[in-house]
Amino acid sequence: MRKMKFLLAVFFMIFSVAMTGCGSKSDIGVKSVAICFPNTTPSWQRNAAALQSHLEEDGFTVDVKSSATVEEQQKQIEEALQHKPKCIVIGAIDSAALVDVLEDAKKYEVPVIAFDRIILNTDAVSYYASFDNDAIGEAQALYFEAALNLNSGGGPYNIEFFAGGSADNNAHIFFKTVKDMLDPYLKKGQLVCRSGQTDFNSVAVKDWQAENARPRIRELLSKYYSGGETLHAILAPNDEIAGVILEEIQRAGRPVPLISGLDGDPKAIERIKNGQQTFTIAKDPDVLTAKCFRMVKAVVEGTQPDINDVTTYNNGVKIVPAYLCTPQIVDKTNVNNF
Ligand code: BGC
Repeated sequence: MRKMKFLLAVFFMIFSVAMTGCGSKSDIGVKSVAICFPNTTPSWQRNAAALQSHLEEDGFTVDVKSSATVEEQQKQIEEALQHKPKCIVIGAIDSAALVDVLEDAKKYEVPVIAFDRIILNTDAVSYYASFDNDAIGEAQALYFEAALNLNSGGGPYNIEFFAGGSADNNAHIFFKTVKDMLDPYLKKGQLVCRSGQTDFNSVAVKDWQAENARPRIRELLSKYYSGGETLHAILAPNDEIAGVILEEIQRAGRPVPLISGLDGDPKAIERIKNGQQTFTIAKDPDVLTAKCFRMVKAVVEGTQPDINDVTTYNNGVKIVPAYLCTPQIVDKTNVNNF
C-alpha cells in the first residue's frame, strides 16, 4: 500500500511537472508573433514600433527583427520561423525574394501576413495589409492634373519623374498609375520631360535610398535646366526622396517646384508648412498597424480577418485577400491638422 501511494505520488509529480512545462510553453506559443521589417527608412521603424505596441498591449509576445538587406531579411525570417510563432508579419525588402524562405512557414504552418508590400510568387502568404497603392498613384497624378490645370489645357510645364526601388512591387504600382494618367498630357505637350527619362528603369531610385536620388537630380538640373528653363514639377515617390531633391533644388538656387511625396513623414509635414514641399500622401502608421493588429489577432484566434479586397493582389500564384486602407492627401490647405 505504501509502495502504491509512493508510486502514485511520483506519478502525480511527474504529471504536474509535465503539465506545467506544457502550460508555459503554450502560453508563450499561443500569443507569439514575429515582425520582420526593413530598417531602411524612418517610416518602417515607426510602423514596427506601432504594430509592436498594439500587439503587446493585447498580451502578445513580439519578436521584432529589422534588416537592411535582402539577405539579412531572409536570414531573420528563417530564424524567426524556427521558433514557430503563431503568425509572422513581413514588410518585404524584395517582394520576389522570399519564395524559398517561406517554404518553412508552410512547413511549420505559420500564417504569413504581408505588410505594406505584397510578397510575390508564393502561396505561403495568407493575407495582405496595406494602403491602397493604386489610390496613392491616382492621388499623386490627380494632384498634378489639378494644380497645373491640365484638364483645361494648362501648360506647357516641365516635369521630371522619380520612382521607388525596383525590387519593391509598390514602386511599380505607384509609378505606372501616375504615368498612365499623365501620359496623355505628355503626348499633347502640356507636360514636357526635358530629360526624356520617363520609363521606370531610368527614373527608379535604387533601393528607395533617398541619397541615391541626389546624383540624378544634380545631373538633371545641370544638363537640362541650366539655360534658364524652369523645372515646374517633380514626381517624388516618397517624402524622403522629396527631401533630398528639394535640398538639391535649394542648393542650386532654383525655384521650388510642384513636388509630391508619400508617407506623411514629420519632416515632410514641416516642409509643407514652410511652403517647400507641395503635398504628400499620408499613410498613417496607426491606421495600418491597427488594421494589421486585428488581422494578426483574427489569424491567431482562428477567426476570419476583416478583408476589403479579394481581386487586386494576384501575387503570381494566388490572389491574396487584402485589407487596403485609405491614404490621405496633405497639402497647405489641411497640413495644420497633422
Ligand atoms: C512604401 C512607401 C515607402 C517606401 C520606402 C514602399 O513600399 O509603400 O510607403 O516610402 O516603400 O520604404
